[in-house]
Amino acid sequence: MIIRGSAWVYLAILIWFNCVEADADFLDVRTKLEKDRSGRKGDPAEKYFHESTFHPHYDGRFADDQVGKEERLDHLTALIQTFLYTMADIGAETWIMHGTLLGWWWNQKILPWDSDLDLQVSEETIHFLARYYNMTEYHFSLPGLSSGRNYLLEINPHYMIRGTDDKLNVIDARWIDTETGLFIDVSTIRKNWTAIEDGVEGALMCKDKHHYFEKDIYPLRDSFFEGFPVKVPFEYGWLLEEEYGRKALTVTQYEHHWWNETSELWESMTYKPPRPMRKKPPPYPPRGRPSR
Ligand SMILES: *[C@@H]1O[C@H](CO)[C@@H](O)[C@H](O)[C@H]1NC(C)=O
Ligand SMILES: *[C@@H]1O[C@H](CO)[C@@H](O)[C@H](O)[C@H]1NC(C)=O
Ligand SMILES: *[C@@H]1O[C@H](CO)[C@@H](O)[C@H](O)[C@H]1NC(C)=O
Repeated sequence: MIIRGSAWVYLAILIWFNCVEADADFLDVRTKLEKDRSGRKGDPAEKYFHESTFHPHYDGRFADDQVGKEERLDHLTALIQTFLYTMADIGAETWIMHGTLLGWWWNQKILPWDSDLDLQVSEETIHFLARYYNMTEYHFSLPGLSSGRNYLLEINPHYMIRGTDDKLNVIDARWIDTETGLFIDVSTIRKNWTAIEDGVEGALMCKDKHHYFEKDIYPLRDSFFEGFPVKVPFEYGWLLEEEYGRKALTVTQYEHHWWNETSELWESMTYKPPRPMRKKPPPYPPRGRPSR
């Protein structure tokens, strides 16, 4: 895998400005909606993050419906770009995992059929974010959006609970697009002290029951994702194979998309080339004087 990067990426960063508002209450952040469509009422009381009642990948406090399929990818791209930019800016180390890492493996982009994004942080980083950046809001001027957009970083207070028994709170933080309600899930990788005490060197765990070894993750590699600097786990190939099977790295048709080797893009199979233009018809003959 060649790790590519280019100077224009840095240029793209320069045209983005952001500012921080600390400790926003979500009622201040929510500007559009009267009604809360989070699944709060149906969720158990111990669950901190509430997905919307209409789709599990939306925050119902900010949206009352899904965005169109064609738009979704643009919103997800902006989500990860703004998140990577912000984490780098405040000095919080993060890396991509799961489906997001698989997208990176193919072409350093989000898989077009994905509807969520997965990032991980270390225990030190989640403490840092919880302590200084919970409920901070960031404004970005985005290309093509006149009013820009606000993103909210929210940390689950259950991040302090390390065990996998806390099943309802496996997501430690979210980066939320306050316009569409789409978000990024952030989960924490922790040392598995039980295993380490049993002599398993570098044992790591995650509340979602994935387990890793330190040498799978570290040292993190530097790369690019959606045009922005990103970190990826050291043994990315092995991790992907373990999670998705070898086929996920070789099969070139998936979810109504096929892999175009030339453009290095997953292209939609439903895409139909435009119909050939009809020749312009000759001018209609003036009434009463048919041409011969
Ligand atoms: C973050 O702020 C929200 C809103 O005030 C609060 O409910 C939550 O417990 C806070 N999280 C942490 C980790 O303190
Ligand atoms: C931590 O390690 C112990 C002992 O090896 C194991 O039983 C447990 O499942 C591990 N926890 C996680 C979350 O992987
Ligand atoms: C694959 O991508 C190339 C380069 O963008 C393009 O010229 C070609 O038409 C694509 N192939 C198909 C079958 O669409």
